[in-house]
Formats: sequence, structure tokens, C-alpha cells
Amino acid sequence: MNGSRIGLAALNAKVMSPEDAAALIGHGETVGMSGFTGSGYPKAVPLALARRIETEHAAGRPFKLRVWTGASTGPELDGALAKANGIEFRLPYNSDPIAREMINRGEMDYFDMHLSQVAPMAWQGFLGPLDTAVIEVTGIRPDGSLIPSSSIGNNKTWIDRASKVILEVNRWQNPALEGMHDIYYGTALPPDRRPIPLTRPDQRIGEAYFRCDPAKVVAVVETDSPDRNLPFDAPDEDHRAIAGHLLEFFRHEVARGRLPANLLPLQSGVGNIANAVMFGLVEGPFDGMTAYTEVLQDGMLALLESGKLLSASATAFSLSPEAAHALNADLDRIRDRLVLRPQEISNHPELIRRLGCIAMNGMIEADIHGAVNSTHLMGSRIQNGIGGSGDFARNAYVSIFMAPSTAKGGKISTIVPKAPHVDHINQDVQVLVTEQGLADLRGLSPRQRAEVIIENCAHPDYRPALNDYLARARRESYGQQSPTLLTEAFAWHQRFIETGDMRG
Ligand code: COA
Repeated sequence: MNGSRIGLAALNAKVMSPEDAAALIGHGETVGMSGFTGSGYPKAVPLALARRIETEHAAGRPFKLRVWTGASTGPELDGALAKANGIEFRLPYNSDPIAREMINRGEMDYFDMHLSQVAPMAWQGFLGPLDTAVIEVTGIRPDGSLIPSSSIGNNKTWIDRASKVILEVNRWQNPALEGMHDIYYGTALPPDRRPIPLTRPDQRIGEAYFRCDPAKVVAVVETDSPDRNLPFDAPDEDHRAIAGHLLEFFRHEVARGRLPANLLPLQSGVGNIANAVMFGLVEGPFDGMTAYTEVLQDGMLALLESGKLLSASATAFSLSPEAAHALNADLDRIRDRLVLRPQEISNHPELIRRLGCIAMNGMIEADIHGAVNSTHLMGSRIQNGIGGSGDFARNAYVSIFMAPSTAKGGKISTIVPKAPHVDHINQDVQVLVTEQGLADLRGLSPRQRAEVIIENCAHPDYRPALNDYLARARRESYGQQSPTLLTEAFAWHQRFIETGDMRG
């Protein structure tokens, strides 16, 4: 793609300032924005919208929006709109600190849906009408089709469902992204759903561009701004230990004939630990691997560069500034090994089950029966959201959750008697890993799980208290299928809330 990135004259005529584009969005609208884990989100219109909202509020006029995205975006979108107090309701995943604070103060409604379900539920009409789509693209082609940006997320659905479309054409996005995307237009609603014809992680089953009716485009805004691209923490000792336990587990599974020598398609979740595990695999013995995942973090790219990972399919990049820079410089070389898809496909239960993904996700805490909390601190305070962890955990070949055994400098045990909020039930959690070790829970009853989890995963500082609790639960619990002392179980969290330390 050379010269202008707007190849259709009719849309060139709709180029305007972010302020003029923002003026086309009204109070009370539902707006579907592009953006997924800090990439491919609109960067100018939401900022202009936030300024407009502040002006409206200063004049005593109400102005609130319902905001739908792919997943987390960036400070210019979630941060700015939250700061302006302009979001009435938000879905489906947020990691912005300002929005998080407002949600936790009860000043913004938020629902963290399974990411694979957002587009289908929008089509089913469960979420209400969509007024405006604001979508970042890499370019507009002469036929009006759109070259996607560094994430796909729900963009196809927002463009199709919205009454009006605002496009941000971002020159910062590498033109070599063209051709990397695979937009599948074959989804339908029941009773007309058909199998999705994808049988390999690297397969392309759709088109490289978004279809878009130019008549629906009310504004085009040109930008030149980088994605959020936050740095990852360098892997610490705990992260390396977790990666080591996982590698050992994979070796063991291959030796037992339960995994092929090149493993199965990897899914790697968000956050520092998932990233560190990918770096661990760079050093590991496995070759010829593939990935069918949601986000491509630095570690996944390093694995690709190492040659050990043949290909990766995801819906978005989520990179540090250094990795984004390196990728941009090298995109031509590796782009044929990367596919970006709509999140309803990257996270589709049918495909995850068919491909047999190895799901590796971070967690806040797990209880001694193996239920996992990925989202709520102390049972009530949202950290980010469930994201795609539920899509992958329930449908994976093997579902793994990992975290250090303690948080907040040892004042919190991440292995607890009872999770005060459950995102993943026991049946969806087959392996737990902390720096202490790995608990393989497959085929174990809740009573057996409790022993293995405490022994292998809990921190030694908390093991005696957990064993003491378990022994009493085994005597005094109302039932013995999943021994639990209700009041005492949650007392661990209450103690932290009251004293700042689970140890009291
Ligand atoms: N109790 C209280 N706080 C805890 C805690 C616990 N058991 N465990 C972690 N925390 C706190 C940390 O101290 C940290 O707080 P801080 O930012 O104030 O320092 C915060 O939670 C995040 O923890 P951190 O260790 O930095 O997290 P991470 O980067 O490894 O991410 C999750 C872990 C669970 C937050 C992250 O994986 C997530 O959001 N998961 C849900 C979505 C998901 O899995 N998506 C992938 C699907 S493809």
C-alpha cells in the first residue's frame, strides 16, 4: 500500500477532525470501539469525545455512553472516557486503572463476559442495539473494504451491526499487516449454525479485509499514534520456577504418550507469568509447536523467532514497546506465520475443543478443591475480568492455571480454603502451578485434590494452617464430598480486609 491510506474517494471526502467526528456521537448512545489488550484501539475520537463530555458536564448537561470493545484498550479510550465520567456501562474486559477504580467504587457498571460470546450475543440481540462503531484500521481499499489494524476483536461485528461507522486510519500501523488477518464471514445464528471449517491453527478460512458499506461511514479520521504497548516485568525467580514446573509436566506427558512430541496448540493467557512461560519454552526441548491463542505477547514472538513455534493464531498483539518496534521492523519476514482472527473465532469453544489446546492462564487464587478465581480480589473487587480464560479452560485438552503461591509480599496465600469468587469450577481446572510445584488434579476427587494442592502448591508459611483447616473440615463439615467449614473458609479473606495480612 503506497501513499494515501484512504483508497476510496467517497471516503476521502469524509475525512474530518476528531472533534467533528466525536460530535456525531450523542448522549445515551451505545458505541462499539475496536481494541484488544492495548492494540488496535481508536486513539483520537475517544479523546475528543472525552473532552466534549467534560464540556457538557461542566454546562450541567448529562452525557454518558455504553461502551463495548474487544477487550482492554488504552488510556486514550477507557482511561480518558472514565476520567470524564462518560461511561455508564462497559463490556467485556477492562484493565484500565482509572476505569477499574470507578467500577470498584460502584460509579460505572461493568460486565466481564466470556470473550467468545460477545459477538454472538450482540447478533442475538441480547445486548441491545449498537449505534456507532469507532474502528481503527490500517487503511481503506479502493473498493471500500478495510485493512484491519493490530487487533481484530469484535470489529467485524461492530461494523456490521452499527447504524453508523467512524473510521480512524492510523499511519503508525505497519502496512505489512495487510494480508495477515483472516476474517471469517460464515458464522450464523441458531438454527442455521454450521461447523466452522478450521482444523489447523494456521489455516485461513476467511478474508483478509473487513467488508464495510461506505454509505454507513459518517467520518474518517487520520491518526499517527502508537498502540499502548506496556512493558512486561522481567521474569523473576517465581516466574522461572513456574515455567520450569510446566516444562517438566510437558516432558512427562510426552513420555507417557498423552501429548505429541511437538505438544498441542498452545494458548497463553495475559500477564507476566504467561509471558514468562513462553520465554521458558524458548529454552525448552520442544520443537515444531503451534499456538492457537488469544493474544500474542513478547514471549510468544520470541518463541516464533526461535523457530520452535511454527505459527501462531490470535486476535491481537499485546506487546512491550521494544517488541512492537522489533516486530514492525521484521513483520515482512514472519507475517506469514501469524494469523489474526475475530475473537469469536480465536476463542471459539468448538475450535478450542477440536484443536486440543493446552490452556495456560494466570489466576488470582485457587481453593483447595481446585476452583479458580481469575477476577475478583477478596471476592468483590474486580482486577481485570474473565477475558478468554473461560473459553479456553472449559474446552481445552488440558487446562492449567498458575500464580505465585503468595501475593502482596507474602501477606496473602493464593491457595485458600474457599475461593470467595469462582470463575472456573473444579471441573475446568486440571492442573495448578505455583513456584512451589505443580498439582495434577486429573481424575482426583475433591478430597484428594485438597491434599495434593496443599502439598504441592501452597507456600510453606501457609501449609500448616491449610492442613489444620482441612483436618477439621474432614471432621466437622456438613458433607464430605467437598469438606468445607463455611464461616472459617472466608475468614481468611476477611482477616486480610481487616488487618492487611491473611495470617492475622
Ligand atoms: N489476592 C489479592 N490480590 C492479588 C492476588 C490475591 N490472591 N493475586 C494477585 N493479586 C494482585 C497483585 O498483587 C497485583 O496487584 P498490584 O497491581 O496492586 O501489585 C494484581 O493483583 C495483579 O497481579 P499480578 O501478579 O501482577 O498479575 P498477572 O499480570 O500475573 O495477571 C491475572 C494475573 C489473574 C490478574 C491475569 O492473568 C488476568 O487478568 N486474568 C484473567 C483474564 C485471563 O485469564 N485472560 C487470558 C485469557 S486468553
